[in-house]
Amino acid sequence: MTKKCINVGLIGCGVVGTGVANNLVNGIAQKRHLPCELRLKRIADLYPHKERPYKIPLDLFTTNADEILDDPEIDIVVELIGGCDFALKVITKALEKKKHVVTANKALLAEYGREMAALAKANGVDLYYEAAVCGGIPVIKAIREGLTADSINNFRGIVNGTCNYILTGMCKYNMLFEDAVKAAQMNGYAEADPTFDLIGKDSLHKLVLLIANCFGQWIKPEDIYTEGIMDLDQTDIRCAEELGYVIKLIAQAKKRDGKLECMVAPTLISKKSLLAGVSDAYNAVEINGSPIGRTVYYGEGAGMNATSSAVTADIIDIARNIYYGCEGRLPVFALEGEKCEKVPTDEMEMRYYLRWKTDDKPGVISALSQELTEREIGISSVILHEFAKAQPYSIVTFMTRETTEKKMRDAVQALNKLDCIQSRTVMLRVESGF
Ligand code: HSE
Repeated sequence: MTKKCINVGLIGCGVVGTGVANNLVNGIAQKRHLPCELRLKRIADLYPHKERPYKIPLDLFTTNADEILDDPEIDIVVELIGGCDFALKVITKALEKKKHVVTANKALLAEYGREMAALAKANGVDLYYEAAVCGGIPVIKAIREGLTADSINNFRGIVNGTCNYILTGMCKYNMLFEDAVKAAQMNGYAEADPTFDLIGKDSLHKLVLLIANCFGQWIKPEDIYTEGIMDLDQTDIRCAEELGYVIKLIAQAKKRDGKLECMVAPTLISKKSLLAGVSDAYNAVEINGSPIGRTVYYGEGAGMNATSSAVTADIIDIARNIYYGCEGRLPVFALEGEKCEKVPTDEMEMRYYLRWKTDDKPGVISALSQELTEREIGISSVILHEFAKAQPYSIVTFMTRETTEKKMRDAVQALNKLDCIQSRTVMLRVESGF
């Protein structure tokens, strides 16, 4: 017999949790999409009396998560605590108790996703996590439902709103990195301690989940080269601009000769590409597949409204599965993909941007290019930037042709020993193959 009422238990009522509670208590969206009642039965949070922007009935609250996990009437548990310790216990217990789970916890899924997926499968329940990747953008749904006919060749994304906000400030308003970070904090985009975003770890977690869905491969976070934006200098933003590029923190993965290349790094993106126009705290993911071709998904990647929309949609999706008796309809990750080996970082092939502050004298360009030529690294452009014209030094950039990461790193070590340079080599990746 189909259920008339599906009960939800929410664990963690912070910013996103409050949005979800409001959607469920006061929302109407599910009425259009569900033939049964969806009820928020209980909320577990340590601070029931905290001031919240929406009125959530106080009698729904408990401070004990077990009241939800042990309640046989609760069908769907929503985990919005964050972190990997207590949240892991909550999700594990919920799945073992045969409750469906919705979470936004990318860090936990990137570390324990496979184990949690196996547990969900063993217990015949769903584990949904749309909000873990790009907040409100339904990109996981697009991949595992909209693109099921396609073989995905590559994808790349701006998946961290904080970094994109900071880079936009540096690029559009010439802000220094430190000032752009402060602005992101003042405007509520960056956390008080934004390290996790700035070092690229948040993007890395999202990349792991995107790879699992696009390629059916599980690549561990520690196996993916990750570079954040903390060392980016305003000078490089200006040089990139003169070269026709913008610098974005890009999480990308692509198949090349049947192998998988993936990385998170600040990358020069052509000003003409759609991703170059993604500003402020917005996210976007570009996915190229066959037969579909190029697709792009754009929207808000964080915040109460966008993220609670994704969580609530997951709840509704699972409620539908329960109502129609088709739980487990979608695999947690597309993990049965054709095995394709990950290319070691050293062997990845890319184009590179190199930048130096050098002595202003003849012979500098030939000394720099000689180091590259000796290693068979092709150069596609050499520029002495105009904005440093009145200075007693030169700002020089080289753009290279495709070469391997290993060759490039070796070259940089040698370049750093040259007497004519006044600063260490700045090496950034340039988009290629998209
Ligand atoms: N800190 C993340 C971001 C929030 O800035 O995109 C959502 O993961």
